[in-house]
Amino acid sequence: MSAPNKSYDPVEVEALKPEEIERMRDEALAAFEAAADLDALTHAKTAHTGPTSPLSLANREIGALPPQAKAEAGKRVGMARGAVNKALAARLAVLEAERDERVLVEEAVDVTLPYDRVPAGARHPLTTFMERVADVFVAMGYEVAEGPEVEAEWFNFDALNFVPDHPARQMQDTFFVQGADGKKTDESGVVLRTHTSPVQARALLERREPPVYVVCPGRVYRTDELDATHTPVFHQIELLAVDEGLTMADLKGTLDHMVQALFGEGVKTRLRPHYFPFTEPSAEMDMVCYVCRGESVGNPDRPCRTCGSEGWIELGGCGMVNPKVLTACGVDPEKYSGFAFGFGIERMLMFRHNVEDMRDMVEGDVRFTRPFGMEI
Ligand code: PHE
Repeated sequence: MSAPNKSYDPVEVEALKPEEIERMRDEALAAFEAAADLDALTHAKTAHTGPTSPLSLANREIGALPPQAKAEAGKRVGMARGAVNKALAARLAVLEAERDERVLVEEAVDVTLPYDRVPAGARHPLTTFMERVADVFVAMGYEVAEGPEVEAEWFNFDALNFVPDHPARQMQDTFFVQGADGKKTDESGVVLRTHTSPVQARALLERREPPVYVVCPGRVYRTDELDATHTPVFHQIELLAVDEGLTMADLKGTLDHMVQALFGEGVKTRLRPHYFPFTEPSAEMDMVCYVCRGESVGNPDRPCRTCGSEGWIELGGCGMVNPKVLTACGVDPEKYSGFAFGFGIERMLMFRHNVEDMRDMVEGDVRFTRPFGMEI
């Protein structure tokens, strides 16, 4: 026979002695209390509640006890672990609150600091002026239309009644763009648009049925050298109105309205006969010099720098839309008529602000743009 089972005394299992459990608990509480920050607390947590912590190991011993001893040992360990978790949660709350308070102070934003040390950018006067001109027409019910800068030769020239051998089509005037098919550049049929007039044809084709009232601001290209009065990249604004019964009088009235809106009341325009393939009749339009109002003419005592004492400032081209253009764009010239005009924005800006050198407008120097204001 085997010897009788010795009744089990939990006190004999070293790790489960009451004073041992108490010691483990107190060590854990002391470690939490000593943790100065959240990192230290995380370490203390692993050491005193993790799977290899003394209390977890002691807990494992319980399984080996005989049934009658388990309950008491389990209660003792459970109470100790409960106290440890409670102390951990309390310490965590304290340290988190401390951290939040510190972050609020350390990361505070001083709203009284100056905010404008980096100068704000400004839009270029060409852009703002072009928009101002477009606005004059938008206020009259015109729509803003845009077209591509890399344009089909057909829109830039053919649709506008330029004959096939028109000198403007030559490479010394027009930038041709090499086509993907490897054809010679001047046969590619693709150009950098030389004026905004191709948007006239696009607008008519898009709408199909008049009335069409559009204003087309945009960038255009010609093979000019950059100097004080020329730039190979410049800006135009184009106007096109096609409706029933439009006449030259409507064109004249529209021009007068525009210059008065931009240069002041009483500024008049005049038309001089000219030629454009896409308008018939065509004219060049001038406006009365808005500075001297013509008073410098024949008056050496009052020379005018703005108009060179001419009394008039040339603005651009205009005319009644050539019926051939209407036909090319699918509009019946028997039923509809139209007028168009276009002028260069750079030129206009030169007159309006006495800019003497066009190069100033393309160099992007803020010392030039700043005096125009900080419209952004
Ligand atoms: N497209 C012409 C140019 O660039 C200007 C113009 C526009 C003339 C509309 C008549 C009508 O010179």
